[in-house]
Amino acid sequence: MGKMKTGRSVTMEALSFKGKDIISINDMNLDEIRNILSVADRLEQKSREELMAYAPSKILANLFYEPSTRTRLSFEAAMTFLGGRVIGFSSAEGSSVQKGESLWDTICTVSQYSDVIVLRHPDDGAARLASEASHVPVINAGDGSNQHPTQTLLDLYSIQKIHSTIEGTSIGIVGDLKYGRTVHSLTSALSKFKSISMHFVSPQSLRIPMHIERELKESSTVYSEHERIEEIIEKVDILYMTRIQQERFPEPAEYEKVKEIYHLDLALLEKAKRHMKVLHPLPRVTEISRDVDGTEYAYYFRQAGNGVIVRQALLGLVMGVLH
Ligand code: CP
Repeated sequence: MGKMKTGRSVTMEALSFKGKDIISINDMNLDEIRNILSVADRLEQKSREELMAYAPSKILANLFYEPSTRTRLSFEAAMTFLGGRVIGFSSAEGSSVQKGESLWDTICTVSQYSDVIVLRHPDDGAARLASEASHVPVINAGDGSNQHPTQTLLDLYSIQKIHSTIEGTSIGIVGDLKYGRTVHSLTSALSKFKSISMHFVSPQSLRIPMHIERELKESSTVYSEHERIEEIIEKVDILYMTRIQQERFPEPAEYEKVKEIYHLDLALLEKAKRHMKVLHPLPRVTEISRDVDGTEYAYYFRQAGNGVIVRQALLGLVMGVLH
């Protein structure tokens, strides 16, 4: 049922994603990222009937070893809109993982039942390992605190929709910069674009990791570090809020110290640029006041909505039914 994967190729086929794994945003160059966003743009113009014709006999296996609402359901919606079908599990409970089956063995098995696998797993590097076990493309839906590349693609799509371009954006990234995988992927992706400035806001204990800082320096991306939103709110075109990742803290007491450190409310937004938009990968806990939802600044639920079209593009590309 699954197709043999092809290696990363060059020249005319350089932009082809057919058979490829989507593990880290760093596996893609700028042209490849732009290609996915432009395929998503094209799909947005299609009717439901046209979309349904793309993948009528294809099967997506959604393997979620960690909780998810948006990623799992938007992948499911995306495959359904393309005319395909979805199998899988939403937690390891109830699967043979409970009997001690390894990730490797699960992937070797499920890759025979499906044309593409979407994997969320608590361990950093799990998606890379799965891609080695699988003979169908594996898409990383979040591995530990490492990477969440499909979230980044929909974040970039959202920024492009808001401001018509990604280049030149000044972005504030707030919250858990240490454990937040969406932050790591997004920061790496943005460093590939021209004239980006990044303003990181976090407590000292949750600063952006050294390896990401190194990438920013290597790409000559302008960035600054802060501890308070007030220090950057006037400067930014996008304010990317994130949740403090309780599940990644080795010590619960450390989480307790920082869990409510940021709270974006109407008073804070008074100093924001008129065109500024607030993004958040969601779920939100207490870091954005509900009052913000009804303002022109709030874009986070539309951002989550953009996940369906971007994931349709990505599924279609790796299955080779879109180009
Ligand atoms: N943004 C995101 O990954 O959300 P879920 O955990 O709900 O999938």
